[in-house]
Formats: sequence, C-alpha cells, structure tokens
Amino acid sequence: MVDAVSSNPLVPELGKIIKIIQETPDVKTFHITTDKGKPFTPMPGQLAMLSLLDVGEAMFSITSQGPEYLEIAIKKVGTLTEALHEAEEGQTVGIRGPYGNGFPLDMMKGKNLLFIAGGIGLAPVRSLINYCAEHREDYGNMWIIYGSRSPADLCFKEDLTYNWFKVENCRVNVTVDRGDENWNGHEGFVPAYLEELKPSPENCVAVTCGPPIMIKFVLQSLEKLGFKDDQIVTTLEMRMKCGVGKCGRCNIGSHYVCLDGPVFTLEQLKKMPNEY
Ligand code: FES
Repeated sequence: MVDAVSSNPLVPELGKIIKIIQETPDVKTFHITTDKGKPFTPMPGQLAMLSLLDVGEAMFSITSQGPEYLEIAIKKVGTLTEALHEAEEGQTVGIRGPYGNGFPLDMMKGKNLLFIAGGIGLAPVRSLINYCAEHREDYGNMWIIYGSRSPADLCFKEDLTYNWFKVENCRVNVTVDRGDENWNGHEGFVPAYLEELKPSPENCVAVTCGPPIMIKFVLQSLEKLGFKDDQIVTTLEMRMKCGVGKCGRCNIGSHYVCLDGPVFTLEQLKKMPNEY
C-alpha cells in the first residue's frame, strides 16, 4: 500500500551532498545521492527541486549525472543558495523531481548541434552536451560556444579544456568579456563571437542559455546567420515553486514553464505572451 506522504509529489526525498566542486567564486557544483542511489534519472534539460531544512527550496537545472548521483550547479544569488554554498560534504538536503520537458532529443537526432551559453547558463546545456557525447552516433557535429565575464567566471573548466576536446567531431570555442594577465584566449561578447565564427544553419539546431540580455542578442545573431525560429531552442529560467502545475507561479499566458517547459523552441516562444 502507498502511504499518503510517499505518494505526495511535493514531499522531497532525503538526499546527501557527497561532493562539492568550486566552479567559480560564486558557483558550486553539488553531487547529490540518496540511500537508494541516484534520486531519479532525469533527461537532459530537466530540473530538480532542492531544499534545505529551515531555509527553503528552489528549482535548479540538473547539469549532469553519474550512475549514483545527480550534479546540480548553483550560483550564489539569495538565502537558499547562500546556505547551500555554506554546506559541506555530508550535508542532508531534500530533493524531488524530475520536472520539466527537457531538450527535444528526437527533433535533434541526425542534426549538427550548436550550443551557445553564457555564465551559469552552461549548466542546463551541459546535461545535453554530455548526453550527446554519450550517444555520439545519433547526432551530427557538435560545436560549443561559451563565454563568461572573466576567466575566473568560466564554469566547468575541466570540460572546456579537456573532456569535450576528447569528444569526436566536437569543437569548443571560449570567450571572456574581459581577460586578465594570464588569459590568451578570445575576448569579446558571445553574440559577436558567434557572428565571427559563422556556424552554418544547414541541418543544424542551435541551443542557447544564458543571461536574458545575452540570449536576446544571440537570437539576433542566429537570425543574421540564417537560422529559422524552429531551429533555435532555449531553456527559460523562471521562478518556480511547486514544479507540478499547481501554484501558478511560473505561468506565461496559458503555459506553465514547469510542465510545458523549461525548454521551448523560438517558434513556440514567439506564440506566447512576451513575459519571459
Ligand atoms: S511551479 Fe507551480 S505551477 Fe509551475
């Protein structure tokens, strides 16, 4: 028999932080497991609700997963995220999910994939990059264009400098708004770099995530390069509370981001009220 608590989708499972990686001065990646192993198996782009007792809960992108744990990258921006940044390995957390639709893997099959991300916006995109790297035969060429404000703000440096270089037919281009004395890579904003690199829209799907201002200009640049609205996919960062379509906090018109998103094509977004 199922009891009332375990059948309630709003009651989190008890999880434990087993590893913490300091990505940047204000971003940490947390590896989270439960007594039974991985809390659940998300598809790329899906979300998890993470909570700390007496502090609160919030929705976060799942940035990757191992056989026994989920990886969640969190930027320090408020009370809960600050408390999580104070946490140590071994800390108990609540976790529930997965939520959201995830990336449209079927629509991407056989296509070249262009990933464009800025700052912590690489977190959800990374789940897709790692998935495509694991299912390499299902996808065409992969191209990652990523930028941050400074070299210190680059997330997932080991992927950028090592892991993704080992993926077959995968190109990685990194830029920073402003370099420092040790930086000898590209300097400049992501949209300008994208236009400079000129990826072809032919048989390609572009996936973008980052600060709203970056996304706005990336969409313009993609349009200039000849990408159509149905070739562009983005994932929305919205304030979500329940994650299950009950609280109404994440709606855009008649759509709930927690149920219908967070991943949308630009074609879908253009049909929705401009509240995102
Ligand atoms: S988060 Fe409550 S309806 Fe979407």
